[in-house]
Amino acid sequence: MPATVSDKPDPMGPVKKKVALEALKYVRDGMVIGLGTGSTATHFITGLGELVRSKGWHIQCVPTSFDSKHLAFKSGLGVVELDAVDHIDYAVDGADVVNPALQSIKGAGGALVREKVVAYEAKDFTIIIDDSKFKDHLSGIVPIEVTPFAYSTVKRKLRTDGIEALARTGTGKFGPLISDNGNYILDARMDVADAPQMESYLEAIPGVVDCGIFTKCTRAIIGSASGVKVVGSN
Ligand code: 5RP
Repeated sequence: MPATVSDKPDPMGPVKKKVALEALKYVRDGMVIGLGTGSTATHFITGLGELVRSKGWHIQCVPTSFDSKHLAFKSGLGVVELDAVDHIDYAVDGADVVNPALQSIKGAGGALVREKVVAYEAKDFTIIIDDSKFKDHLSGIVPIEVTPFAYSTVKRKLRTDGIEALARTGTGKFGPLISDNGNYILDARMDVADAPQMESYLEAIPGVVDCGIFTKCTRAIIGSASGVKVVGSN
């Protein structure tokens, strides 16, 4: 079983758990649920396992990464492939930065492609974060997943347009990190003034599989030591 995310104590753990528990309130029996990736999503997955077990519900889950899939197995959840379902009712995931328009930067964990496929397919996509990630402006590292054949041409195109991007490296091997889809990830630091425009620009570059700018979200559940608030649909 892979060590999911980290076994180290996480000082933000209680807040992450709080937002995950709030997200569980939208779960209904019979749903098809998209499982995000990362330390916050981990709390949702384990909580969902407990909820489903205690209620005797039938839930099907579509995980967005290898780690989330194995955590779902461990939590006793029913896991299905994306092509085994004809819709996703509800998807829950963490994020790296979220603005008041509920646009976000995601993908620090390298799972952005599957996360976006599942989030955009879901009828309801909920982001769970602590309040340090809720910012007026989207800025930071935007991951761009590229097919290995095209990483140099994508980098060149970005540089020509004034964006510096570096191939993400992993641990335990030399060279680029390989995503769950067998691709490379280029990390580009940027201020995103117009998220839909930047998302479309990046996705139109040949060889780009997808980028970590997300422009579709139903609600964000934002936690702090003092409580949780919901921005977006209630
Ligand atoms: C992984 C992601 C994560 O959801 C995002 O990086 C937030 O992670 P965490 O909850 O660990 O802070 O997009 O690709």
